[in-house]
Amino acid sequence: MAFIDIARKRYSVRSYLGTEVEPDKILSVLEAARMAPSACNLQPVKFVVITDPEVKNIITTQVYQGKWLKSAPVIIAVCGDHNNSWKRWDGKDHCDIDTAIAIDHLTLAAADLGLGTCWICSFDSKLCHRILNMPENYEVVALIPLGYTAEDGIRETNRKNIDDLVCWQKFING
Ligand SMILES: Cc1cc2nc3c(=O)[nH]c(=O)nc-3n(C[C@H](O)[C@H](O)[C@H](O)COP(=O)(O)O)c2cc1C
Repeated sequence: MAFIDIARKRYSVRSYLGTEVEPDKILSVLEAARMAPSACNLQPVKFVVITDPEVKNIITTQVYQGKWLKSAPVIIAVCGDHNNSWKRWDGKDHCDIDTAIAIDHLTLAAADLGLGTCWICSFDSKLCHRILNMPENYEVVALIPLGYTAEDGIRETNRKNIDDLVCWQKFING
C-alpha cells in the first residue's frame, strides 16, 4: 500500500476481535518501530509485549479504566529510558519524542498489516511501571493495544484543512 494510504487508513481502534495476532505480525510491527530515528541515535525506547491474560487483566482493570481495552489480544507498553535519552543544552529531554516516533512507526506498520491500534496515555503510568517491574529510569509513555479490528474500519475523527496547518517562509498566526 502507498504510504499516504496507510497514513489515511490508520485510526484509533477501540474494539478488537478475539482472534490471536500472529507472532510474526507482532514482530513485524516491532521491527518497524526498531527502525525509527532517535535523537543522537540513542534509541531509548523499550517495548513490553503483554499477551498473558493475568497481566492483561491487571492492566485493563487497574492501570487503564476504559473497558474497551479488555478486547485487545495484545497490549504493548512503550517505555522510554530517561537515563539514555538526549538532553538538549537547555535541558529538554527528547525521550518522549523518540518514543512517539517509534510508536508512530508501529501503528502505521500495524495498519499496513490490517491490524488496529490505539494510543493510550490516560493511564496510571506509575502503577504500570510497578506492575511491569521496570527500573526507576524508565517511564511507561503509552499503552498500545494491537489486534484485528471489530469495527467497520472507518475513521470518525476529522482533520484540520492543510491551509490551517501550513504557512510558508514565516509563521502566520490564525
Ligand atoms: C499522545 C496521544 C495520547 C492518546 N491517548 C488516548 C487515550 O488515553 N485514550 C484513547 O482512547 N485515545 C487516546 N488517543 C487517541 C486520540 O484520541 C486519537 O488519535 C485522535 O482522536 C485522532 O483520532 P484517530 O487516531 O482515530 O485518527 C491518544 C492519541 C495520542 C496521539
